Amino acid sequence: MAEKRNYEPAHWDRLFATPGILAVITTVDGQGRVNAAAFATCVRAVHQPLQISFVTYAEGTQTYRNICETGQFVVNLPGFRKELLEKVCTVGLPFDQGVNEIEQAGLTALPATRVGPPRIAECGRHFECELVWTKEWLGRVVIMGNVVAASADDGSTDQEGFIDWDAVTPALYCGSTYFRAPDYQHSFVGNGAVVAVSSPYEGPEAQHYRDTVGAASRR
Ligand SMILES: Cc1cc2nc3c(=O)[nH]c(=O)nc-3n(C[C@H](O)[C@H](O)[C@H](O)COP(=O)(O)O)c2cc1C
Repeated sequence: MAEKRNYEPAHWDRLFATPGILAVITTVDGQGRVNAAAFATCVRAVHQPLQISFVTYAEGTQTYRNICETGQFVVNLPGFRKELLEKVCTVGLPFDQGVNEIEQAGLTALPATRVGPPRIAECGRHFECELVWTKEWLGRVVIMGNVVAASADDGSTDQEGFIDWDAVTPALYCGSTYFRAPDYQHSFVGNGAVVAVSSPYEGPEAQHYRDTVGAASRR
């Protein structure tokens, strides 16, 4: 067995660097405008009934605002494929309200079966949620959703619904903080491998992010 090394608090977040499963969460605002964002902090919190939580910033995220307005969201779980992870990084960029990140990233919206926000066709598993509760602290908010419908790519489970992991290849985010500039290399783990991925997005906002958000994030 290896010797244990003790870490200073500044390194604790890096040490716990796969905070949950990677998800793209879709919401709509009160006017029905679609939003999608990347979340590394998604956790199955309750088995029965199935409830899923994730953590986001309490101020300034469209995802939280939309969930407060409509009480609904869809958790879409992407597989560990580089071209798909690049698109996940693109929806993780801070687009303005009303911009449809699904379109910006070149992903495909698929209507959900029980809630307003769409599923993302390229993701392998989808959990349609209704809000149960939120809890704010330290500038963050935990959002807990109750699953009202779930779907997955045909062929990705056996007859009893147990996952074929080789088909599904879940992805985990390895970074600690979420640097958001397009060029930032995010690391993901899945399928026994690690891959570094950045957003290929080159829309008009990209340079602005490099100059502002990205620079600030790196300090
Ligand atoms: C791979 C990845 C994982 C992320 N995970 C989280 C997360 O768990 N919590 C969070 O608050 N932001 C996370 N972000 C940042 C959000 O996706 C980002 O702030 C996004 O702009 C929020 O979008 P919204 O304002 O449309 O909700 C992540 C970004 C990336 C690229």
